[in-house]
Amino acid sequence: MKAIVCTRYAPPEQLQLRDVPVPVPKDRQVLVRVQATSVNDYDWSMVTGRPRIYRLFFGLFRPQRPIPGMELAGVVEAIGRDVTQWRVGDQVYGDTSNGGLGTLAEFVAVPETELRLMPAGLSFVAAAAIPHALELAYQALVQIGKLQQDERVLLNGGGGGVGTFALQLAKQHGCAVWGVDTGGKLEAMKAMGFDRVIDYTQQDFTQLGERFDLIVDMKTKRVPRELARALAPKGRYVTVGGDPGRLVALLIARFLGRRNMHIVSLKSNKNLDTLAPAIGNGTLKPLIDGPYPLEETPRLIRYFGEGLHTGKVVIQVAGALILRPGRNT
Ligand SMILES: NC(=O)c1ccc[n+]([C@@H]2O[C@H](COP(=O)([O-])OP(=O)(O)OC[C@H]3O[C@@H](n4cnc5c(N)ncnc54)[C@H](OP(=O)(O)O)[C@@H]3O)[C@@H](O)[C@H]2O)c1
Repeated sequence: MKAIVCTRYAPPEQLQLRDVPVPVPKDRQVLVRVQATSVNDYDWSMVTGRPRIYRLFFGLFRPQRPIPGMELAGVVEAIGRDVTQWRVGDQVYGDTSNGGLGTLAEFVAVPETELRLMPAGLSFVAAAAIPHALELAYQALVQIGKLQQDERVLLNGGGGGVGTFALQLAKQHGCAVWGVDTGGKLEAMKAMGFDRVIDYTQQDFTQLGERFDLIVDMKTKRVPRELARALAPKGRYVTVGGDPGRLVALLIARFLGRRNMHIVSLKSNKNLDTLAPAIGNGTLKPLIDGPYPLEETPRLIRYFGEGLHTGKVVIQVAGALILRPGRNT
């Protein structure tokens, strides 16, 4: 099979498209024929080894697993001996970050627990853009941030994959939503429905004199004292990621009493089945940058790392597939 292979930490341009053996699923694994996958922060870190702290997860000296990619939409091709949930032909999607990565390839073997049945009618390209970003947004806004009707919400880093879903969730709650990002994304964000957009290279949202009931941050770069300035009296701050030093400062601040400041620890795929009706009927839908062919992965990881994308960068791995009727149809 064709796969993107990464044997050492290096600029993305050094990734190679190679022929490698199709993996054999273990007893509790499922072999998926990948139709589409997407680019995420993990790919940038796994390929470049930066920030260096991520090498603790991916391998100290070189990536332990040679094929990057963590999100997928595809079709079950084969199942391991002890798999109970899946049948050959099922259309599945999921965030495999807990189960081994490797989705930038024509086939991947993943634990059966890392997959969910795709809602009927969803395309593979759309499905590949959903699991990671929607879960981060839902867990940040709804489950941790306790989003209420008609609140004032600010999404810092709102022009990326998580921000798109966060906006939709906040709008479903009738909220006024401000978004912070930069470049060409600002126009796209206005078109998506943000009530106000701020360019972070021009203005600091903590210095505007505005107060928000909920701030969700995709890229924490400020200390808790500055962030608290932008919160209303009962306001909550929830971060999904950012500078490691700033995240440690937040943990300390929380420990010292700022109980309204939270860090999301993603539980992958947790709510996808609950959200399936909204995904299936298009109430929750991704903003897709692409789809692009697998061969373009090196360029796309650079493009993602430099923040030039809007929404989710999706890679279509296989051409159109003739599907047998299955549980999704
Ligand atoms: N909590 C967890 O368990 C967990 C798990 C996985 C991933 N994550 C984190 O989740 C986040 C993923 O978000 P995503 O997929 O939406 O990423 P994304 O698509 O890269 O979007 C993030 C956006 O933030 C913008 N940005 C960068 N610096 C900023 C700043 N100082 N102020 C405001 N905006 C800024 C980026 O624009 P430019 O690049 O153009 O500046 C980009 O548009 C990452 O931080 C990742 O590390 C968390």
